[in-house]
Amino acid sequence: MDRPQPLHKYRRYSDCSVSEKFLDTCFLLVMGVGYLLASAYLYVSHEGLDNKPGLSVEDVVYSYYGNRSGSTLEAKLRGSMSGYISIEENEKVVAWIFKGSPEKTFDREIKPIFEKNCTFCHRPEAGGMTDLSDVKAVKKLTDVDMGKSIGALARVSHIHLFGVGLLLFLIGKIFILCEMPALLKRVVVGFPFLAIFMDIGSWWLTHWLPAFAYIVIAGGALIGLSIGFQIIVSLYQMWFYKEKEQ
Ligand code: HEC
Repeated sequence: MDRPQPLHKYRRYSDCSVSEKFLDTCFLLVMGVGYLLASAYLYVSHEGLDNKPGLSVEDVVYSYYGNRSGSTLEAKLRGSMSGYISIEENEKVVAWIFKGSPEKTFDREIKPIFEKNCTFCHRPEAGGMTDLSDVKAVKKLTDVDMGKSIGALARVSHIHLFGVGLLLFLIGKIFILCEMPALLKRVVVGFPFLAIFMDIGSWWLTHWLPAFAYIVIAGGALIGLSIGFQIIVSLYQMWFYKEKEQ
């Protein structure tokens, strides 16, 4: 039998046709750009939730844990709006919020206070300001922000597990044709799968324990690093790497 002996026991880029490498290259480039855009989207959608520019651990906490120090209305009554209302009236409003802001008593107890002190500015005609004479609008300001709901978490988690899992699998399939120590290769392809569980698992944990926000960020960064590494090394070895003659 004089079938040509393959150079390697396993497939390497040198065993691939140019067409296959071309297809791999197109795929890796599209995934790379997609990943960069996903990161940019993540940045703009989370940035500034804590009222400070830039993405920070607090932004992640606000997004998954919420801001449970109280409602917006309370915060404003204590803060920048406190000058427009007398102390007794302020206490009445806070007491109403503590009772769970019941709609029944709004018109009788609270609306007159707001109409006297606040609706001069807080009316719909005044350029998008919340209408404080409308109980529905006021109730939105008295809800405590509990972060992402369990339903929302389940929705984004399963989409990410399927999507990122498939992406890691396909990128890894291309990457394992590289020439490098087997152990390093296994770590590079296996690690991001662990990181995705770290990342998504800590979205859930952050919903109860805000300290896990650090792991959300670390997990996300590790997935990004691993994808970037695999894409760059694959493209390099595919087109530029010359094997040493055995
Ligand atoms: C002189 C105008 C003026 C008056 C009077 C005023 N506000 Fe405001 N209020 C503002 C402006 C401007 C903002 C947006 C800037 C900010 O958040 O500080 C605001 C923001 C708020 C917010 C944040 C949410 C939102 O609707 O945008 C709350 C809650 C609020 N005010 C409550 C009150 C209450 C309660 C009173 C009456 C005791 C009051 N304000 C009186 C001008 C006013």
